[in-house]
Amino acid sequence: MKIFFASLITLVVSVKCDTIDWSAHQWQAPSPTDSRGPCPGLNTLANHGFLPRNGSNIIRETVRR
Ligand SMILES: *[C@@H]1O[C@H](CO)[C@@H](O)[C@H](O)[C@H]1NC(C)=O
Repeated sequence: MKIFFASLITLVVSVKCDTIDWSAHQWQAPSPTDSRGPCPGLNTLANHGFLPRNGSNIIRETVRR
């Protein structure tokens, strides 16, 4: 599982920055109902909307966008 998340983060980070529409991925504080875990990398991805902002239902189809 750790290797999966490590490669996921590497994949997102290695996407060329100029191909990311940053206006659609602004940082946004999690709302009280959103779930966050102990992993800062995953939390950052969720806070920027690369993963579902609510922090749940992270499935392959959601992550591939
Ligand atoms: C969280 O967001 C995902 C993706 O939009 C959605 O499928 C899921 O139902 C949501 N979970 C909750 C608890 O709202």
